[in-house]
Amino acid sequence: MARGPDNTPSWAPLVVLVAVGTGMAGAPNPGAVARISQKGLDYACQQGMAALQKELEKIRIPDFSGKFKIKHLGNGHYSFYSMQMRGFQLPNSQIRMVPSVGLGLSSRNASVRISGRWKARKNFLKTSGGFDLSVEGVSISADLKLGRDPTSGHATVTCSNCSSHIDRVHVRISGRLGWLIRLFRKKIESSLRNNMNSQICNTMTRAVSSKLQPFIQTLPVTAKLDAVAEVNYSLVAPPTVTAETLDVELKGEVSRRDHHSPPPFAPPALALPAVHDRMVYLGLSEYLFNTAGLVYQQAGALSLVLKDDMIPKDSPFRLTTKFLGTLLPQVAKMFPNMEAQFHISVSSPPHLSMQPAGLAFRPTLETQAFAVLPNSSLASLFLLGMSTNASMKVSARSERIVGELRLDRLLLELKHTNVGNFPVELLQALMDYVVPTLVLPRVNQRLQKGFPLPMPARVQLYNLELQSHQNFLMFGADVRYARSRRGGGAVRSCPFRFLRGPF
Ligand SMILES: *[C@@H]1O[C@H](CO)[C@@H](O)[C@H](O)[C@H]1NC(C)=O
Ligand SMILES: *[C@@H]1O[C@H](CO)[C@@H](O)[C@H](O)[C@H]1NC(C)=O
Ligand SMILES: *[C@@H]1O[C@H](CO)[C@@H](O)[C@H](O)[C@H]1NC(C)=O
Ligand SMILES: *[C@@H]1O[C@H](CO)[C@@H](O)[C@H](O)[C@H]1NC(C)=O
Ligand SMILES: *[C@@H]1O[C@H](CO)[C@@H](O)[C@H](O)[C@H]1NC(C)=O
Repeated sequence: MARGPDNTPSWAPLVVLVAVGTGMAGAPNPGAVARISQKGLDYACQQGMAALQKELEKIRIPDFSGKFKIKHLGNGHYSFYSMQMRGFQLPNSQIRMVPSVGLGLSSRNASVRISGRWKARKNFLKTSGGFDLSVEGVSISADLKLGRDPTSGHATVTCSNCSSHIDRVHVRISGRLGWLIRLFRKKIESSLRNNMNSQICNTMTRAVSSKLQPFIQTLPVTAKLDAVAEVNYSLVAPPTVTAETLDVELKGEVSRRDHHSPPPFAPPALALPAVHDRMVYLGLSEYLFNTAGLVYQQAGALSLVLKDDMIPKDSPFRLTTKFLGTLLPQVAKMFPNMEAQFHISVSSPPHLSMQPAGLAFRPTLETQAFAVLPNSSLASLFLLGMSTNASMKVSARSERIVGELRLDRLLLELKHTNVGNFPVELLQALMDYVVPTLVLPRVNQRLQKGFPLPMPARVQLYNLELQSHQNFLMFGADVRYARSRRGGGAVRSCPFRFLRGPF
């Protein structure tokens, strides 16, 4: 295939569309489903045909020669050589869905011009000239069969059932004694036409297996999230094609990078609605988010140690036993003049559930309070349980999905105390300060890094839309292939506010 300025095959857009494509009975439920619509294929077609055109222009017609015999003149010999393709035009090209096969590619009324040289010899007489051949009404049709490589989890594509046909060829011969060669025009035309026709499908098949397929193999099936986790986007089933959509089911599971263990819950059904007005769609199951929650909680990543030096100097609140003593006198009495620490953590894996009405979030938070003894060891003061109602704003920003969490009022519960019983409301104002100003910004910083979407480089999304469905979020977008390296970056973001759900 043709290569862009930085050596990226121009097949990329077609691949995007094939690679981000959805679902099948029998296979496990996917954690993500990618879909491409006919509109997406039309865009891929524009891009892919330009690349195919360049490949077709590389066709080499071998030299050929023949003998002639003319009354009074006797026998002679001619040959055609140095033939070059000029301007392969593929005006009416289309890629369409072929249910249960994959994609069908067709091009009608294509044309190309070939120019070259001829020479003829009879005894000691030699002559030569140029010729121009126009090839018109070329039709090409081929199936692109889609599948899955079970070892690598990549999509596969092979060109099958290719056929081509050439309606007309017309040769113009110039040069001294050109009239002589023109006598053999029919034979020359049919020879060139047969040669050309036999090479079209070979070229197509070769381009798919040597350019498109290897490029698909380079699309990552896992994406690193950070030092802790990665998301697995490998195909769980071969792509499925209906009259209007090409769907690819992906695993969509987050796991630890150092060791993989299957989560103790299975993905729920993910059925994309029958939509196809955007070029691509991506359904992200709550499974993907919940495997992420599990991994981060088990890795101890959802915890935070708050110390006094993290609290702004001008704050009325301090993390010292002296300040806690103003609320709970027993603390100052038992641990006079010491620093305090709050160890805040998510005590069980946070569970996100997605519904048409929005998104419900149920983490269980705990705050363990300590006094820091003079020898630096920690003395446990009390353990608080915390719950709240959260709202989450999710947006897609270019190739990532990002989130922003907002919390309502905290509901506190005293779970354990070493400093005597006390009404938990005494700590309400302190926790209402600590959680939104110290904890939440750190959570949101992480959420803003977001999840990478399974998109190849240099593909931009626009016209984004986002909907919440039973068990999954669905993104729709149009795709633009950025040719220049610089064109990347955020396109437009699409904020979507979820209804609030109980923690
Ligand atoms: C086919 O292409 C030729 C030019 O190469 C054009 O004149 C003709 O109208 C086209 N025919 C159709 C059916 O598109
Ligand atoms: C090959 O193409 C022809 C005509 O386009 C079609 O009738 C046939 O069913 C195809 N075969 C396969 C195996 O797809
Ligand atoms: C991704 O998931 C597939 C399908 O379950 C599995 O075969 C593959 O080993 C996983 N890859 C990684 C890197 O975990
Ligand atoms: C630190 O001091 C406390 C009380 O003074 C004592 O109980 C604890 O064992 C000491 N810890 C260490 C590690 O020395
Ligand atoms: C969350 O909202 C629901 C309904 O609005 C309410 O019943 C519940 O008490 C709230 N929970 C908290 C922790 O605020």
